[in-house]
Amino acid sequence: MQTVAVISRKGGAGKSTVAVNLAAALRDAGQRAILADADPLRSSSEALRAHSLSVVETSASKLFALVTASRRSGCDVLVIDTPASPEADIVSAIKVADLCLVVTRPTYLDLAAALKTVDLLRQLRAPGLIVLNQCPSPRQGHESRVVSGTLEALRFAGVAVSPVALRVRQAYQGALSFGRGVTEWEPNGAAAAETRALAALVHGKLWGEGQTPRPANDVARPGALSTVRT
Ligand SMILES: Nc1ncnc2c1ncn2[C@@H]1O[C@H](COP(=O)(O)OP(=O)(O)O)[C@@H](O)[C@H]1O
Ligand SMILES: [Mg+2]
Repeated sequence: MQTVAVISRKGGAGKSTVAVNLAAALRDAGQRAILADADPLRSSSEALRAHSLSVVETSASKLFALVTASRRSGCDVLVIDTPASPEADIVSAIKVADLCLVVTRPTYLDLAAALKTVDLLRQLRAPGLIVLNQCPSPRQGHESRVVSGTLEALRFAGVAVSPVALRVRQAYQGALSFGRGVTEWEPNGAAAAETRALAALVHGKLWGEGQTPRPANDVARPGALSTVRT
């Protein structure tokens, strides 16, 4: 079993959105996925209360036991949705994770917080990847300055960035308000395509690149972001 922690010290970055949609997309791809909601706000478990995906309400102190129990239950992948604070709770999630996704919006203040989280991952020698969320869509093939500036800063900091970015899309809000992931809500939509691409990327990181299906919107150019045309 593999464990993914979705982390960010900023509320509103999109941790719950990414955790829910990633778990649902991995399940769609045939994985036995469990979503662990370790945030006392319970956003993801409330959103999925009527969903067939296995969702466990938990807390940072119970994560180690949950990982053990999930592995015994035959789970393939445990996705942990985390709170923005306290740091000790984020550390607990990082320590049980095989991969940490640091979700961040492409703004100066969010980036500063994300880089601190990356420092924490480095201190703990934990594997992580920045996932840009709520990015404006490119215009006429060009990324907005806010996105290209964020990418430049991350490159300068030597940070691993997911080539799959999630764009600002109404489907992320609409799907969750009906207790669904975007891949079920609008299977042919752009949000579903980029979410499947992120799930394929995560799958490749966890189980090996050779095992992964080719992401729908993967872009070969290093450092470039992929996008789904709408
Ligand atoms: N890619 C996106 N496009 C549009 N809205 C988004 C996106 N990601 C998150 N949101 C919205 O932003 C808000 C905060 O997201 P949430 O996942 O709750 O963040 P966090 O868990 O980090 O606090 C929610 O209203 C959510 O619907
Ligand atoms: Mg949340």
